[in-house]
Amino acid sequence: MKTIAVLTSGGDAPGMNACIRAVVRTAGARGMKVYGVNRGYNGLMEDDIYEMNLRTVSDIIDRGGTILYSARSLKFKTEEGMNQAVEVCKKRGIEGIVVIGGDGSFRGARDLSLKGIPCIGIPGTIDNDICCTDYTIGLDTCLNTIVSMVDRVRDTSESHDRCTVVEVMGRKAGYLALESGLAVGASYIIIPEKPYSLEDVIKRMNYTLKLDKRHFVIVVAEGIGGVANLAKRIEEETGIESKSVVLGHVQRGGSPSAKDRIVAALMGNYAVNLLLEGKGNRVVAMKKDEIVDYDIYEALSMTKDINLNEYDIAMEISI
Ligand code: F6P
Repeated sequence: MKTIAVLTSGGDAPGMNACIRAVVRTAGARGMKVYGVNRGYNGLMEDDIYEMNLRTVSDIIDRGGTILYSARSLKFKTEEGMNQAVEVCKKRGIEGIVVIGGDGSFRGARDLSLKGIPCIGIPGTIDNDICCTDYTIGLDTCLNTIVSMVDRVRDTSESHDRCTVVEVMGRKAGYLALESGLAVGASYIIIPEKPYSLEDVIKRMNYTLKLDKRHFVIVVAEGIGGVANLAKRIEEETGIESKSVVLGHVQRGGSPSAKDRIVAALMGNYAVNLLLEGKGNRVVAMKKDEIVDYDIYEALSMTKDINLNEYDIAMEISI
């Protein structure tokens, strides 16, 4: 394989740039030509592509976002869009593609592989909701951002004897809420994977009020949502003044942590090596701190359970 391309797709995540850098530098070291594709699959269909070299990826290791921009492409899901992308690959001589993104991006990579363009997926999303891997690039930075934001919320919550209900991202997955809730000592964590009731939240708050606790932080996963209403109901039921905060896209930005840069480097390098070995339709993953790879079909059919033991621990000690 002499010519490959790299693209980022779906929601951006800190560490994507470090991963692009690893792909480009590894390919360069192996004498391959590398194209950067702008705005995910949209750029592939529209031939918004440029040749990258060792220097195009200089000084991006520490930058959040993605220098290749990102998009969620509806057109690419159509037969017409897919064929357009394949034509562009043929025209450019692109023989393999590294796709950095989430599950949706991997479905596109699988379909392109079926059309004869071998693709390798690299998990890049803050949500950690890709089942085949223990870790997704961007998670660590995002968690640290959430923790630092909620620490600020806690300061003011404490000063005013308030309850603050904080919504964190994660789409349908409660992973970010669970881990950040544990890390900030949230009084209650509400995630889609664990049934909850308002009564239980109130009961727990009333119990801790008797133990002289006067302020509360409650972390709620995006998949549950409704934090404004929840804060209102808590205030009505407990008499504790309650506010809500939706952290939003602040969670997606910022310079990647050391962990995200390291995982990005290892996965980017691994992906190029897979293409060189003539492999396609694979997803790179991390299992017990080791980089491995799976067939995309297999990867997309896997399931992953949240660690409810951690949930119980959080509830036991954040009182
Ligand atoms: O997948 C990453 C993520 O940030 C999710 O947590 C969130 O649900 C979604 O993307 C938000 O997407 P957008 O940036 O398109 O609003």
